Amino acid sequence: MKKIISAVLTGLTILTSFNAKAEENNMTEKKALVVYFSRTGEQYSVGNITEGNTAVIAKMIAEQTGADLFEIKLKNDTYPTAYKALTEVALKEKKANARPEIIGGVENFADYDVVFIGSPNWWADMPMALYTFMESHDWNGKTVVPFVTHEGSGLSSIPSKIKSVTGAEVLDGLAIYGHIAQNEREQAKVDVKNWLEKLKF
Ligand SMILES: Cc1cc2nc3c(=O)[nH]c(=O)nc-3n(C[C@H](O)[C@H](O)[C@H](O)COP(=O)(O)O)c2cc1C
Repeated sequence: MKKIISAVLTGLTILTSFNAKAEENNMTEKKALVVYFSRTGEQYSVGNITEGNTAVIAKMIAEQTGADLFEIKLKNDTYPTAYKALTEVALKEKKANARPEIIGGVENFADYDVVFIGSPNWWADMPMALYTFMESHDWNGKTVVPFVTHEGSGLSSIPSKIKSVTGAEVLDGLAIYGHIAQNEREQAKVDVKNWLEKLKF
C-alpha cells in the first residue's frame, strides 16, 4: 500500500513540475512587440514593391500573436529606390559601421516582455538603422525573437549580432525568402504559424 501511495505521489510531483514548466514556456501571456525595418521600391527577385518583404512578415506575426508593431524609419531617407544602387550605399554604411538617425523610438518599451526584431538580410548583416534602434533601447530582461527575409543567405549571423548588442535572451529565428513573403503569402503564413507554434506563441 505504502509503495502505491509513494508511486502516486511521485507521479503527481512529476506532473505538477511538468505543468509548471509548460506554463513558464507559454509565450501567449507575454506582452509582445514587433519591430522591423523594410524597404519599398525595387527589390531583388520581386521587382518594384509597395510593401517591403519584411513588413509583410512583421504584420503576419503581429496578427498571429496580437503583438504591437513598430516600423523603424530613417530621419533622412536618402536611400535609392533602385536595387543595385541601394546595395552599394548599404555596403558603404556597413563598412563605416554607420548609425543612421531614425525617427523616434518605442516610448513604452519597458512594458514589453518579448520583442520580435525583423530585418532584411543586407550583406549577411542587418541594415545599420537596426543597430541605431537596438542601441537606443534598454533590453534588460527582454526576450528577443529574430526574423529575417533574404534571397539565399538565410539568417547569416544576425541572431548572434542581436545577442551581442542587446545582451537579451534570443530565441530561434525565422528565415524566409523575400519572394515567398511577397508572392506566396499563404505559404508564408503557414511558415510563420509553424515557427510561432514551435516557440509556444
Ligand atoms: C542592400 C541589400 C543587400 C542585400 N544582401 C543580401 C544578402 O547578403 N543575402 C541575401 O540573401 N539577400 C540579400 N539581399 C536581398 C534582401 O535580403 C531581400 O530582398 C529582402 O527580402 C528584402 O527585404 P525588404 O523588402 O523587407 O527590404 C539584399 C538586399 C539589399 C537591398
